[in-house]
Amino acid sequence: MTLLDGKWASAQIKEEIKAEVDQLLAAGHRAPHLVCILVGNNGASETYVASKIKTCGQLGFKSTLIRYEATVTENELLDKIKEINTDDGVDGLLVQLPLPKHIDENKVIETINPAKDVDGFHPISIGKMALNLPTFVPATPYGIVLLLEKYNINTSGKHCVVIGRSNIVGMPAALLMQRNAQPGNCTVTVCHSRTQNLSEITRQADIIIAALGKPEFLKADMVKEGVVIIDVGLTRIDDANSPKGYALKGDVAFDEVAPKSSYITPVPGGVGLMTIAALMTNTLKAFKNSINK
Ligand code: GUN
Repeated sequence: MTLLDGKWASAQIKEEIKAEVDQLLAAGHRAPHLVCILVGNNGASETYVASKIKTCGQLGFKSTLIRYEATVTENELLDKIKEINTDDGVDGLLVQLPLPKHIDENKVIETINPAKDVDGFHPISIGKMALNLPTFVPATPYGIVLLLEKYNINTSGKHCVVIGRSNIVGMPAALLMQRNAQPGNCTVTVCHSRTQNLSEITRQADIIIAALGKPEFLKADMVKEGVVIIDVGLTRIDDANSPKGYALKGDVAFDEVAPKSSYITPVPGGVGLMTIAALMTNTLKAFKNSINK
């Protein structure tokens, strides 16, 4: 069993980005600029956004965090997005999800200028991804692909089972894994909350992407020997012994599944770190698109 070390792989990608940013700055360009909008005080969202902003600093990017109370109106948020859409000094814009119930997430995503949609959630970005056209690929599935690439894992002709069909992970991951590309070229099955014979399907999988958000859902008797496991779960579980008051659990029962797998991502230290590296890759791409216009 080999651990798919997101810390190692993401550090490599970040080093490559930093070197490219240094060159761009030396050539007289301004720094790439990412704007993150955070609404409310969701603990996990706070952590993710803080990590995105911190990484921007490490790579020589400019970043701006715009915060709103959970009571912000949909119109106020949409107006801010429209303002940033036309600001030539901003390359990437993301609105951290989830949003409070009174705000329509689809409307928010559809308002973002696709040229700055570094999350890759806009219908135009998703459509282009499905058609294998150049675009921004959502950060988590993109991070998974980058991780498989770093470890030279051959995915061609393999059966990839994706558990979960969210717009953020499961759906785009399934599209990516079946594309005519490496990593890709998989036969993909998408399982979800209505799937009836889930264990039967997961036992046939060469690669499993678990993205359902249920801690330790995938057990040893649900996988075959030699499977590649990508665990996207990152659920906070109360833990009085931890300084933070919580522990992070993946969707895979790691201790029992790891011995049966050929490769497996740890949680934390796997997909989460790759997600940030992928977002930074998208932001640099948005910047380069804007200077080459
Ligand atoms: N919430 C969970 N994952 C993500 C992500 O990748 N981007 C945004 N904007 N919100 C998220």
